[in-house]
Amino acid sequence: MRNEKKLVLVVDDEEDIREILAETLDNLDFECITACDGDEAIACLDEHHDIIDVVICDLKMPRVSGDQVIIYGHKKYPLIPIIILTGFAQLDMALDHMRLGAFDYMTKPFRVKELLFILKRALEKRQLQEENAAYQNTLEIRIEEATQALHNQVVQTVSSFILAIEAKDRYTQGHSKRVAEYSTLMADKLGLSQEDKINLIYAAQLHDIGKIGISEQLLNKPGRLNKIEYETIKTHPSKGVKILEPLDFLDHLLPVVESHHEWFDGCGYPKGLAREEIPFLARIIAVCDSFDAMTSDRSYREPLPLKIAIQEIKNGSGSQFDPQVVSAFLEIFHNTLEAQMIIRKTVGK
Ligand SMILES: [Fe+2]
Repeated sequence: MRNEKKLVLVVDDEEDIREILAETLDNLDFECITACDGDEAIACLDEHHDIIDVVICDLKMPRVSGDQVIIYGHKKYPLIPIIILTGFAQLDMALDHMRLGAFDYMTKPFRVKELLFILKRALEKRQLQEENAAYQNTLEIRIEEATQALHNQVVQTVSSFILAIEAKDRYTQGHSKRVAEYSTLMADKLGLSQEDKINLIYAAQLHDIGKIGISEQLLNKPGRLNKIEYETIKTHPSKGVKILEPLDFLDHLLPVVESHHEWFDGCGYPKGLAREEIPFLARIIAVCDSFDAMTSDRSYREPLPLKIAIQEIKNGSGSQFDPQVVSAFLEIFHNTLEAQMIIRKTVGK
């Protein structure tokens, strides 16, 4: 509510009443605008609802009556109190209108003392409602922030397990963290919403959590894997889903974790999903994951040079990877990542 003079909208079809009310309100230090019927009152509310503090409204008016102003105003601008001013003193009628949403009523001819008393109460009620709404809003924001912080902590705790597993092997150390970093850049490049960005980062941090269910010996085995060993490794996306299932707030990320090794052309695992069947966030992680795997040291090979890794990503566009994601990745690589990675390599981090 504004701090300057309070603005009252006076609605009455009798010019004399409008003038007397305007003069009285002016004497009481209020500002006043007037409308001569319900139609004009509704137009006035629509135009000035952000500055009108209270409405005083007659009931019997030609065309659009006071009832309709009360119903409309109460529904569309519930914070603006409407006081009925009527020549009909029947209590039951006044109660009917209060049920429609009017704040209170006065009968004509009104008394100045009564007018001032009702106006003050109406303004006090409005202020209280506004303070409540603001408090409610702050409370909701705080709850949202606390929930988000709690979710963050849980994700950090869970992802610390996978970081611990990665840390045991110098070849995979920091993999999930780097995939999350690349995913953050991708989220900005692809213009993802804040919600999708957080989801993507969570999923990137957790995508290999299923490796907890694979023996360390197999995970860190030097050299190439035989067919059985490879089939065992291929179970890690589904194992990841099983591990994360008890965390309700991650429900929507399970398909992302499960699909990070699916191929755009349907030749991936575990389900052989293709194109839009693969969650978009999983298609992003697939590119970041492969790029990091290629540019990191492996027990059976040196890291690939950046140029070759990027060429492999390009070659996989449309088969292994979503072409839209590949072109976004190439852009961030050339604009940001390449320089960062060269510096990192130079300083040995
Ligand atoms: Fe994986």
